[in-house]
Amino acid sequence: MSDDSTAGPPAPGTPFPADGYVGDPAVRAEWDERYTDRQQLWSGRPNGALVAEAAGLAPGRVLDVGCGEGADAVWLARRGWDVTALEVSGVALERAAGHARDAGLAVRWVHASLTEAALPPASFDLVSAQYPALLRTPDAAAERALLAAVAPGGVLLLVHHAGMDTHREDESGFDPADYVWPSTVAALLDEDWEVEVDEQRPRVAPEGGAGAHHTDDLVLRVRRLR
Ligand SMILES: C[S@@+](CC[C@H](N)C(=O)[O-])C[C@H]1O[C@@H](n2cnc3c(N)ncnc32)[C@H](O)[C@@H]1O
Repeated sequence: MSDDSTAGPPAPGTPFPADGYVGDPAVRAEWDERYTDRQQLWSGRPNGALVAEAAGLAPGRVLDVGCGEGADAVWLARRGWDVTALEVSGVALERAAGHARDAGLAVRWVHASLTEAALPPASFDLVSAQYPALLRTPDAAAERALLAAVAPGGVLLLVHHAGMDTHREDESGFDPADYVWPSTVAALLDEDWEVEVDEQRPRVAPEGGAGAHHTDDLVLRVRRLR
């Protein structure tokens, strides 16, 4: 957690402390570098799958995992959600917090890796992870953290780029086996969960931004029954 791991997320609007990062420094450095390379990395618009899937949900507490530059967090806050947004890159979080400030919206910013954030368990009505680039571990820590954050009756929405999960390891070093995908989360579901959506569908493509070339989404939406 960004500032006090025992007390849950800080109050909305609390600026994240620049030196309070919790997680692997190498992961933060890698993503900070990616963000620093460009003035704006993503499109600045909320993700289409989130907009579609959240439309029918009553606003409550939401966790945005890997919030990037904050377009989803801002969109959710504007719609009345109580938003906690978590991200490893401090560069991205600065931008996200700026967008929320400009819009006059309060969001809890958590500068941490998902698995080390000490999030309050079972407390979010929606956990949204949009193209989250989470590294897999043998104990499935990231998958379990996504599921553990969802409150009874709540929803986990995990969206990824279709095809990347079956991409062959290439010279870039990208190996799909290193990452969390909807299928690796779905594999952990037990009778406490109901699968509401598990499909590939055309993506509402953003105008511009890195990753705009991806045409299809994998969408996993699961509800925690108890
Ligand atoms: C492909 S980007 C997607 C950003 C945003 N969700 C969006 O759709 O614009 C993946 C994001 O996950 C963040 N990230 C990577 N590893 C993470 C981790 N272990 N915990 C939290 N965020 C992480 C990266 O810094 C990056 O911002």
